[in-house]
Amino acid sequence: EKAGFDHFMLKEIYEQPKAYRNTMMGRISDDGRSVVLNEIGMTAEQIRAIRKVHIVACGTAFHAGLIGKTVIENLARIPVETDVASEYRYRSPIITPDTLVIVVSQSGETADTLAALREAKRNGARVLAITNVVGSSVAREADDVIITQAGPEIAVASTKAYTSQLIAFYLLGLFLAETIGTRDSAYVAEVVSAMHELPEQVERILESADVLKQIAESLAKHNNLFFIGRGVDFAVAQEGSLKLKEISYIHSEAYAAGELKHGTLALIEEGIPVISVITQEDLYEKTLSNIKEVKARGAHVLALVNAGNEEEVAKSVDELFSIPKTLPLLAPALSVVPLQLIAYYASLARGNDVDKPRNLAKSVTVE
Ligand code: M6R
Repeated sequence: EKAGFDHFMLKEIYEQPKAYRNTMMGRISDDGRSVVLNEIGMTAEQIRAIRKVHIVACGTAFHAGLIGKTVIENLARIPVETDVASEYRYRSPIITPDTLVIVVSQSGETADTLAALREAKRNGARVLAITNVVGSSVAREADDVIITQAGPEIAVASTKAYTSQLIAFYLLGLFLAETIGTRDSAYVAEVVSAMHELPEQVERILESADVLKQIAESLAKHNNLFFIGRGVDFAVAQEGSLKLKEISYIHSEAYAAGELKHGTLALIEEGIPVISVITQEDLYEKTLSNIKEVKARGAHVLALVNAGNEEEVAKSVDELFSIPKTLPLLAPALSVVPLQLIAYYASLARGNDVDKPRNLAKSVTVE
């Protein structure tokens, strides 16, 4: 069932191009100028009445929700808060009938996420679920459901479910924006056409897996490392850090690059690996100066950088991996892939059970 791959995780990483295509399939109009989400029962009037959005999830799905916040705020101009479900449900969040609560869960069975969904409904909010499992508890109890078409995910470490959740957020963000009128069909067409290129761009990244394997093997010798980034690159850094911790057991921390000076820089010493995600053109100079700061203190820096910027970034880093060029909002759907592969190969180099990391379960149905 692993279809020739050594582990489910690797198989699932390689299934991402297909998962992107399947998640988009049937949800874009033939002329490519509009997103069609027939599964959403909200009327245009109900959508225009949404005053705020809460995104609630755990783990990797929470990290997808961090990107979802940027996507919805940027496209539809609705304020969004993203919370981990185990915090949300106990912090008496201000949920009103004009709040749209979006729960994100691969399995649709995560106990805290389900409890947050119920709390939201009790408070009169409409709940939209993004889940990978038809008929799951979350899918059954939500008012509206977007199914990510990632196919079954077996490895404990989530990969294709995360990236399919990103695709779902892009579609949802465009759908809300069109309905509210914050974006026109020409803009939608531009994003949709860039989305159609993503599967092939992921394939190009996968072709360089060998390079990432070598990088991972040297990282696997360390016990501590850092991930840095700004904006959606920071959200991707958090996901990369979780993936690495979860299966390689290497301690890592993801930091907003601009926060380094406020404490973490004290931990940067000779030889410590720092993985920096630098795909956002408007933040490029800022992140580059943070890279220079850690480099000056002896860090060994790997940068994930947009194709075209390699030459300049190469002057300030030790290693570089190039990410195919896409729209800034879509970059996470590409930049996370090398981080998944790094986590996978680091775990392998350490002789761990990649698909079944210690102490963890695929579906967390207890608190
Ligand atoms: O099934 P869910 O998406 O609700 O699961 C949420 C988390 O338990 C899950 O994403 C977890 O963080 C993964 N093992 C991370 O790879």
